[in-house]
Amino acid sequence: MFKVNDDYLKLQGSYLFSNIAKKVAAFTEANPDAPIIRLGIGDVTQPLAPAIIDSLHSAVDEMAAAETFHGYAPDLGYEFLRSAMAENDYKARGCDIKADEIFISDGAKCDSGNIQEIFSRDNKIAVCDPVYPVYVDTNVMAGRTGTYDAKKGIWSDVIYMPCTAENNFSPELPTSTPDLIYLCFPNNPTGSTITKDELQKWVDYANKVGAVIIYDAAYEAYISETDVPHTIYECDGARTCAIELRSFSKNAGFTGVRLGATVIPKDLKSGDVMLHTLWARRHGTKYNGAPYIVQRAGEAVYSEAGKAQLKAQVAYYMENAKIIYEGLRDAGYSVSGGVNAPYIWLKTPVTMTSWEFFDYLLEKANVVGTPGSGFGPSGEGYFRLTAFGSHENTVAAIGRIKAL
Ligand code: MLT
Repeated sequence: MFKVNDDYLKLQGSYLFSNIAKKVAAFTEANPDAPIIRLGIGDVTQPLAPAIIDSLHSAVDEMAAAETFHGYAPDLGYEFLRSAMAENDYKARGCDIKADEIFISDGAKCDSGNIQEIFSRDNKIAVCDPVYPVYVDTNVMAGRTGTYDAKKGIWSDVIYMPCTAENNFSPELPTSTPDLIYLCFPNNPTGSTITKDELQKWVDYANKVGAVIIYDAAYEAYISETDVPHTIYECDGARTCAIELRSFSKNAGFTGVRLGATVIPKDLKSGDVMLHTLWARRHGTKYNGAPYIVQRAGEAVYSEAGKAQLKAQVAYYMENAKIIYEGLRDAGYSVSGGVNAPYIWLKTPVTMTSWEFFDYLLEKANVVGTPGSGFGPSGEGYFRLTAFGSHENTVAAIGRIKAL
């Protein structure tokens, strides 16, 4: 009789956002007329920018003629997109990242889940608490997390770095030594950031202890403050200790289009082995590349028209963030995030857990958010709202919450 991968059986419940979707579906079935506003999952609502649509259209037309048709994409990504990223995301910021150190993929979620495959099962991971659940769950699937303590909501072999109001939602260096450190700034879920000097401390630490930082920069486009780094490669020494994940979902609205990238500098090595080589081998074996038309759409993100249009789109969402932040603050909530990130993190009323507040908002205001405890034990007593709704829905949702 075949056996399943036992590590999958250790996973707790279903994926956070699937769980929320099920709860909302059950509520909608029971209350079909309820005017639900969804500020839960960080999914964008604005259409793709015109420059991206134009690029998609012309790439689709290319696919219609034998002379310009494209079959399999190069497995590490088309040169035109890798170069556009190297130029705009790195060289323009004074960072030494070459086009051939960028691997194009169909999104940062897959890459953030898959990257752990190139590391030994014995490696110890450190994560912020609360944290984007994909980092932990994929390590559970790989058998790297030990046993689960249901009471505390933690895994025995994971190093948790609490991010709470006490430390301004910024993790402190761990007291026991990790091999892999997951960092995400601007942060999902708390919306916090760290300065370049603070990030430099992590890079120095990782180089000192021989750890790798897996740096998720998915929300980089939302940075408005000048001392906040846009990429970990702004820090000295990051080439020898950091992998960076990039997404087109939040800066360009590609959640339904799918495009991302992982950066692995060739200086990042374990002994003589370059992680770049392992990821290239993995990519080549398991992946056939993001579609040509999507990579052309990604290239348009870096055109002058694309940049201007996306700047306006980010500003649109950040206006929502301001409305949520100020509205909740005026209503007496303790709020953070929302300045360099599209997420607002609020403290639930003292009498309510995160999930109780979720039910309360859903039932009384028909507003969907995300319970902080879904991101880890230190998220208990917190709640996340996203700025990715439409302006009208955001205003309406905050109005309803204020009226409660
Ligand atoms: C979130 O809501 O945390 C994100 O949308 C999830 C994701 O990007 O996969």
